[in-house]
Amino acid sequence: MKKLIIINGPNLNLLGKREPAIYGNLSFTEFLGEVKQKHPDLQIDHFQSNIEGEIIDKLHETGFSYDGIILNAAAYTHTSVGIGDAVKAIETPVVEVHISNTFDREEFRHVSYVSPNVRGVIIGFGLQSYELAIQSFL
Ligand code: DQA
Repeated sequence: MKKLIIINGPNLNLLGKREPAIYGNLSFTEFLGEVKQKHPDLQIDHFQSNIEGEIIDKLHETGFSYDGIILNAAAYTHTSVGIGDAVKAIETPVVEVHISNTFDREEFRHVSYVSPNVRGVIIGFGLQSYELAIQSFL
């Protein structure tokens, strides 16, 4: 059984409540339940943190044993050299996802310290971005 992990960064614990016009009405727990039902053949773990170092620790912890990492580093995408370096340091392929189309938003969201070190990037498909990332590992 393939082992994947979704790592979500800051404020993504508020999905469903946070700016629903941008991020939708569904909580991540509800969404994850649906995704897991669709993929009974996969182990899909989930980790969310609002703390940069905890995201880096989780990348280290899973980055040599999992088959794939789906990373939405949220706001840290645009600021964190440390998360970018961690993605580069590990062996497990990482797919970067964003719910919103970051290129249709403020200019500071057009920069990603994660993108240069990932296998691919999926941006702007709402929560479906995560589903597309999972499919890329099948
Ligand atoms: C986000 C986009 C980021 O710019 C923002 O800071 C987030 C969420 C997205 O999934 O659309 O928190 O990563």
